[in-house]
Amino acid sequence: MAIGSVGQCSKISELEFKLKELTMMSIAGARPNFMKIASIAQAVAHHNLNIKPGSDATSIRHLLVHTGQHYDHKMSHGFFEELGIPRPDINLEVGSGTHAQQTAEIMKRFEPILLQEKPDVLLVVGDVNSTIACTLVAAKIDYGTDAGRRRPAIVHVEAGLRSFDRDMPEEINRILTDALSDMLFVTEQSGIDNLTAEGVDEKKIHFVGNVMIDTLISHLKKIRDSDIINRLGVHAPYAVVTLHRPSNVDSKEILVSLADVLLEISESLPIVFPVHPRTRNRMEEFGIIDELLRRGRIICTEPLGYLDFLSLVQGAILVITDSGGIQEETTYLKIPCITLRANTERPVTVMAGSNYLIGIDSFRIVETAKNVIYGKSKQYSTPFLWDGKSGERIISIITDYFANA
Ligand code: UD1
Repeated sequence: MAIGSVGQCSKISELEFKLKELTMMSIAGARPNFMKIASIAQAVAHHNLNIKPGSDATSIRHLLVHTGQHYDHKMSHGFFEELGIPRPDINLEVGSGTHAQQTAEIMKRFEPILLQEKPDVLLVVGDVNSTIACTLVAAKIDYGTDAGRRRPAIVHVEAGLRSFDRDMPEEINRILTDALSDMLFVTEQSGIDNLTAEGVDEKKIHFVGNVMIDTLISHLKKIRDSDIINRLGVHAPYAVVTLHRPSNVDSKEILVSLADVLLEISESLPIVFPVHPRTRNRMEEFGIIDELLRRGRIICTEPLGYLDFLSLVQGAILVITDSGGIQEETTYLKIPCITLRANTERPVTVMAGSNYLIGIDSFRIVETAKNVIYGKSKQYSTPFLWDGKSGERIISIITDYFANA
């Protein structure tokens, strides 16, 4: 296992060959993927730019596939523009559906693309349906005898995270993607521990840090320049809330109870609530949204762009969320975060001190919020290797793997 450095990967017989140029195909499907892919695309561009003329270094031809799992401008294309991610080479345009429909549709549309392009590497990030769908296709594909290899090396970025809650669709996606991957890039020590406990060959595991934090660090100036606080007319101190997890928003009882909690907290602190499309649909269906707007000091907005959202978070004294990625972003920014879940696959955020894993008990949420609002401020730490260089480490390990194969 390589910790924070370039390591020797395990060799897979079909993949043992030398390359001058390798083709890497990356998958982006849903909103939390885009900020991770931004760091990878940046690191590839940096790698290619630094190849000296006449050197025998391997260059990377990078192909980007957007599955279309998220398709609204505010959930998808806006992020490509803001983060300077190259336009996807291919868009599968799958759209929404049940888990089975969405996963199957991605697989059906992705297989011919993989057979046509025959990339050397398939890179997937995170834990969404697009991640497992494309991994599963790549693991079983057969390029045919002329290609020199049967399938691409499968690379999973953000591997090894486990909530140990198999009712979460993302947990199923994580376990299966990791089981099928050839290189596993982890963000925190728990990732190494979980993969090792599952019997993964330690030569496949690389501790590289967090590509989502790379993107946050490289956009800090633009985040500070956003004028979203003025545009929304919100005055500090304030809190930011996001909610989208089906277990929290699909049940009327739970969503009504969480809305009551937000109303109570908003009596002490105004709240900005960018509402995910799934949550908006449910709030309309359950007749909650008018009540939130009428009674409380809560500003509900459309989903925000990356820079505006993180600017709001950076200026907040409290974040309340059920998202995975926001637990990490608040950790880096040292903003207290109340997580409305019983578990987290990102325990380093709790160890760093900023993440309060509270669940959905109303009393505990309000009590913790009051402690944050009125209590003494605490010292939080930054997780190891969350330093803005994770994408570069990943690309370096991938190119070394092919150079040394
Ligand atoms: C997905 C991920 C989740 C991630 C979240 C971030 C899976 C299993 N879940 O959940 O891990 O945290 O993205 O948002 O992959 N919709 C739109 N416009 C869009 C996209 C979705 O209106 O651009 C609506 C549709 O009604 C859709 C619903 O939102 O049915 C849910 O979208 P979906 O992709 O199924 O899952 P998310 O809840 O967004």
